[in-house]
Amino acid sequence: MASKRLPIVLALFGLVYCQTDYSQYVNPFIGSEGPFPGQAFGGGDIFVGGAVPFGVVKVGIDTYEANRSISTLNGGYTPNGNVTAISMMHESGTGGFPKYGIVSQMPLTTVAAPVNILDNTTYWQSRVGNDTARVGYFKTSLANGVDVELSGARHAGMIQYSFPSGEKHVLVDVSHYLPDENGGYSVQNYQGGEIQVAENGNAYTGYGTYGGGWNEGAPFTIYFCGEFETAPDQAQAFHGRNTDPVARYHSYSNEPIPQATVGGNNRTAGPLNDRVGALFSWNSSGASVVRSRVGISFISVDKACSFKDSEISLWNLNDTVSAAVTEWNSDVFSKIQVDTGDSANQTNLILLYSSLYFMHLMPSDRTGENPLWESAEPYWDDFYTLWDTFRNTVCLYLLIQPEAYEGQIRALIDIWRYEGYMPDGRSGNYNGLVQGGSNADNVLADAYVKGLRGAINWNDGYAAMVKDAEVLPYNTYSFDDPTGSVKEGRGALYDWLPLGYVSLDRSGRCISRTVEYALNDFALSQVAKGEAPGDVQKYLTRSAGWQLSWKHDVQSVNTTPVFTGFLTPKYSNGSFDDAGYNPALCGECEWSAISYEATPFEYSFVIPHDAQTLIEFMGGSSGFESRLDYIFQPNTSQQNLGANGAGINTLMNIGNEPDFATPYLYNYINKQWKSVNQSRALANQFFHNANYGVPGNSDAGALNSWLIWQMLGIYPIVTQPVYLIESPWFSDINVTVNYNHTLRITATGGDNASLGQQGYYVQSVKINDQQWDKNWFEHDDIMVSGGTIEFVLGSKATVWETGDVPPSPGHVVLGGNTTYLNTTTTTNSTAR
Ligand SMILES: *[C@@H]1O[C@H](CO)[C@@H](O)[C@H](O)[C@H]1NC(C)=O
Ligand SMILES: *[C@@H]1O[C@H](CO)[C@@H](O)[C@H](O)[C@H]1NC(C)=O
Ligand SMILES: *[C@@H]1O[C@H](CO)[C@@H](O)[C@H](O)[C@H]1NC(C)=O
Ligand SMILES: *[C@@H]1O[C@H](CO)[C@@H](O)[C@H](O)[C@H]1NC(C)=O
Ligand SMILES: *[C@@H]1O[C@H](CO)[C@@H](O)[C@H](O)[C@H]1NC(C)=O
Ligand SMILES: *[C@@H]1O[C@H](CO)[C@@H](O)[C@H](O)[C@H]1NC(C)=O
Ligand SMILES: *[C@@H]1O[C@H](CO)[C@@H](O)[C@H](O)[C@H]1NC(C)=O
Ligand SMILES: *[C@@H]1O[C@H](CO)[C@@H](O)[C@H](O)[C@H]1NC(C)=O
Ligand SMILES: *[C@@H]1O[C@H](CO)[C@@H](O)[C@H](O)[C@H]1NC(C)=O
Ligand SMILES: *[C@@H]1O[C@H](CO)[C@@H](O)[C@H](O)[C@H]1NC(C)=O
Ligand SMILES: *[C@@H]1O[C@H](CO)[C@@H](O)[C@H](O)[C@H]1NC(C)=O
Ligand SMILES: *[C@@H]1O[C@H](CO)[C@@H](O)[C@H](O)[C@H]1NC(C)=O
Repeated sequence: MASKRLPIVLALFGLVYCQTDYSQYVNPFIGSEGPFPGQAFGGGDIFVGGAVPFGVVKVGIDTYEANRSISTLNGGYTPNGNVTAISMMHESGTGGFPKYGIVSQMPLTTVAAPVNILDNTTYWQSRVGNDTARVGYFKTSLANGVDVELSGARHAGMIQYSFPSGEKHVLVDVSHYLPDENGGYSVQNYQGGEIQVAENGNAYTGYGTYGGGWNEGAPFTIYFCGEFETAPDQAQAFHGRNTDPVARYHSYSNEPIPQATVGGNNRTAGPLNDRVGALFSWNSSGASVVRSRVGISFISVDKACSFKDSEISLWNLNDTVSAAVTEWNSDVFSKIQVDTGDSANQTNLILLYSSLYFMHLMPSDRTGENPLWESAEPYWDDFYTLWDTFRNTVCLYLLIQPEAYEGQIRALIDIWRYEGYMPDGRSGNYNGLVQGGSNADNVLADAYVKGLRGAINWNDGYAAMVKDAEVLPYNTYSFDDPTGSVKEGRGALYDWLPLGYVSLDRSGRCISRTVEYALNDFALSQVAKGEAPGDVQKYLTRSAGWQLSWKHDVQSVNTTPVFTGFLTPKYSNGSFDDAGYNPALCGECEWSAISYEATPFEYSFVIPHDAQTLIEFMGGSSGFESRLDYIFQPNTSQQNLGANGAGINTLMNIGNEPDFATPYLYNYINKQWKSVNQSRALANQFFHNANYGVPGNSDAGALNSWLIWQMLGIYPIVTQPVYLIESPWFSDINVTVNYNHTLRITATGGDNASLGQQGYYVQSVKINDQQWDKNWFEHDDIMVSGGTIEFVLGSKATVWETGDVPPSPGHVVLGGNTTYLNTTTTTNSTAR
C-alpha cells in the first residue's frame, strides 16, 4: 500500500480532469488473518489478488495450511500457507466449505522426482518475505525463487513469473480446486475436463467440471483459454488416475497417488474423470520472465479466448493493473468522497475505501455468461449469501450502484423464472444454501419501497416472492438439516403456514427462522401495496408470527437484572418448551440448533418492522432500554463463540449479521446518543487497519458495508424507505446517489477537524436546510434528488430529538381471535 497521495489524470472523451486516486487507501489484507497470528482461521476469509468491481475473475493464490484443525482456505489466500497454485476464480468472505479455486497455473523450477505433478504436496511452495497487494495487483515470492505478480480484468487474468536461472516450468492442472483439508460432505469435487495444447505450445484451451462446495452445488463447467507470451520449448498434456476423494464416492481414495502419463497435445478426462493437465517448459538457462494471460467463460472456449484478447490486449501487467485501478476509482471509490488532505485521518480513509473495495468483490456480474438459459435479462451469480447482505449491503448498492443493483434484482427474478425460486445463496450457477428465511424477498422489497423500477418486471418480482411465501420447496435432505430444503425458498412453510411460527419439534432453527419468515412476509406486504393490494393484510398478519413464539413470562438466566419475555422454542401443538430454557444459549448455533449464528436473546431484538410491539413486549421504553444496555456490558455472553467470537464477550455480537441493527435500536426510544455511542464503540473495538481487522468472516462484504454506514452516520432499516440518523466520521462527505445526484453530509463542532473520539455526539441536525427534530428520515427526503444533512457534533451526550420515533409499519396487534390457522400447504416436489 502506498502512502503518497497522487492525483491521476484521466482523459475521457477529450475531457481531461483530475481525480483523486482513492485506491491508494485500500489495504487488501484487512481480514486476511484471524486471532491466531499468521492463520486465516477466525478472520475475514477474504480473497486477496487481482479483480475488478463485481468481476467474474478474481485471480489469486491458493494455499494449503499445515494445521488442518484450523485450516481455512475459503478465500484462496492465507497469510502463511504453502502455495499450491494461482487460480482464476474465488469467493471473498465466505465461511463453511470453500468454493472455486479453479483454472490454475503453478510455476515450478523442477519436475524431477520427488516431484509428482499429480501430487501437490511434492511441489507446493512456501513463501519468502511479505506479499504485496494493491488494488488490481498482487505479488508473492515463492521459496523456489519464482516471483509471481498478477492482475485481473473482468473475465481474464494476467500472471507474470520472474524465474531465477535454471529450469522453468508452468503446470496447468485442470483438476485443481480449493479443497477442505478435513473432508466432509460439502467438499468440492472435480468431475472431469479436457485440455488441448496448441501446435507451438504457446496456448492451451479446454474446460473443467466441478461440483460441491458449501452451497452443495451441482456440477458446472468452466471453459478456459490460456496463452504464454513466449512459446515454451516443450509443451505436453498429461493425464492420470483421479485419486481425489469425492464425497460419498470414495472409490479411488485409498490408493497412492500414481504418476501422470505425459505426452501428446490432447487430454480428455473420459468416463472415469481422470485428472488432466499440461506442462509447459522453457529451456533458457538465464533468469527470465514468463507472462501468461488466461480468459474464462461459462459458455465456450471461443468466448474465453476472446475475453483474454479483448480485456488483456497487451503483455504489460501494468496496463491491466492501471485499468483495474481506474475502474475501481470511477465506479466505486469516487461514489463516496471525503477530504483526503493533510489533516485527514489516514486510518479512517483506509477503513472507508478498503470497506468499499471488499463490498464490491461479490456478487459476480455474469451477464452474457449464463450457460443455463437464454434470456435478455442480466445474469449475476455468487450471491453468497443474501442472508448476510440483505441487512444493509444491498441498501448501499441501491444508493451508489443503482445500475448494477437493478441488474442484480432482475437476475434474481430471472432465476425464479427459469429455476422456480429466487436464491438466498447462489454460487456456481446453483441455488443454496438457505440459512434462515427467503431473504431475496427483503432485497426486492427494499428496492421496491425506495422506488427502484427501471427495467425490473415487478409483476414477476412479486410472483417470485409469493412463490417463496406459499410453496414449500422439496426437501433436500441435507446433512446440514434434513428437516427441509436448504436449497431455496422457505423449507419450514409446513409449519409457518398452518401455525404462524416455525416449530421446535418439526424444524431446525425454529427461533431464527420464525424471525426471518416474519420479516419476509412483511417484505411481501410492502410490495403487495403496489402489486397486489388484496394481499397486504394477509402478509402483514403473517409478519406478526414472531409474536406467537414470544413467551411473555420466560425469564433470562444468570443475568442481573433479570429480563422477562423472550422468543421461546414452541412445539407444533402450541406449547412452549421453556423448562430449563436459557435464551442466552443456542447450543452449536448451527443448522439443527434452535437459532442460527446468534442466541434467542439476540434474535429477540431482530424485529425491524415492528419495533413498537417489541418495545411493548419488553416492558416499554425503560425495559427496552435496560435490556439493550445490558447486552453491551462485558462478560454478558454465555455462549461460547470459539475462535469465531473475535474475543467478543458481550451478548451483542457484531461479528455475526443478526445483530447488525441492534446497536441502533436506541433511536426507537429517542435516545439516539446511545446508538451513536454503542455503535461507534463496536466499530472502534473490532474494525482495524490490520490483517485481523474484521471480527470474523467478512461475508461477501457484509461486515464492511456495516462499517461504511457507521462512518456515514446513517443506518438503513431494510424493507423500509427509512434511515436512522447517527453520527458521521468525516466533516464532509459527498455521496453520489441515484446515478448522478449528490448527498452531502457535513459535520461541524467535533473536537477536531477529523472528528476525534470526544466530539461525536449529535447536538443538532439540519436536512436540506431545515432543522430536523426526528432521528430518522425517509428515502425521498435526500436519496432521490440528493440533498444535505448538516450535523452539529459535540462532546455532550444530548437528547436532541423531540419528534416522532422511527416508524413501525409492520405494527400488528394479534387479537385473541386472529385467524391464523391455514392448513393448506402447497408442495412442489420439482422445481418449476
Ligand atoms: C492436493 O491434491 C490432492 C489430490 O488432488 C487433493 O486431494 C488435495 O486437496 C490437494 N490439496 C490442496 C491443498 O490443494
Ligand atoms: C509447507 O510445506 C512444508 C513441506 O511440506 C511443511 O513442512 C510446512 O509445514 C508447510 N507450511 C505450512 C504453513 O503449511
Ligand atoms: C493447531 O491449532 C490448534 C489451535 O490453535 C492448536 O491447539 C494445535 O496445537 C495446533 N496443532 C499443531 C500441530 O500445531
Ligand atoms: C513483513 O511484515 C512484517 C509485519 O508488517 C514486518 O515486521 C517485517 O519486517 C516485514 N518483512 C519484510 C522482509 O519486509
Ligand atoms: C486435438 O483435438 C482437436 C479437437 O478435437 C483436434 O482438432 C486436434 O487434431 C487434436 N490434436 C491432436 C494432436 O490430437
Ligand atoms: C510497472 O509499474 C511499476 C510501478 O509503477 C514500475 O516500477 C515498473 O517500471 C512498470 N513496469 C513497466 C513494464 O511499465
Ligand atoms: C462536496 O461537494 C461540494 C460541492 O461540490 C464541494 O464544495 C466539497 O468540496 C465536496 N467535498 C468533498 C469532501 O469532496
Ligand atoms: C483516527 O481515527 C481513529 C478511529 O478510526 C482513531 O482511533 C485515531 O485516534 C484517529 N487519529 C487521529 C490522529 O485523530
Ligand atoms: C442522470 O442519470 C440518469 C440515469 O442514468 C440519466 O437518465 C440522466 O440523463 C442523468 N442526468 C445527468 C444530468 O447526467
Ligand atoms: C374478531 O373479533 C371481533 C370482535 O369480536 C370481530 O369484529 C372480528 O370480526 C373478529 N375477527 C375474526 C377474524 O374473526
Ligand atoms: C390459505 O392458504 C391458501 C394457499 O396459500 C390460500 O389460497 C388461502 O386463501 C388461505 N386461506 C386463508 C384463510 O388465509
Ligand atoms: C409446481 O411445479 C410445476 C412444474 O414442475 C409447475 O407447473 C407448477 O406451477 C408448480 N406449482 C406451483 C404451485 O408453483
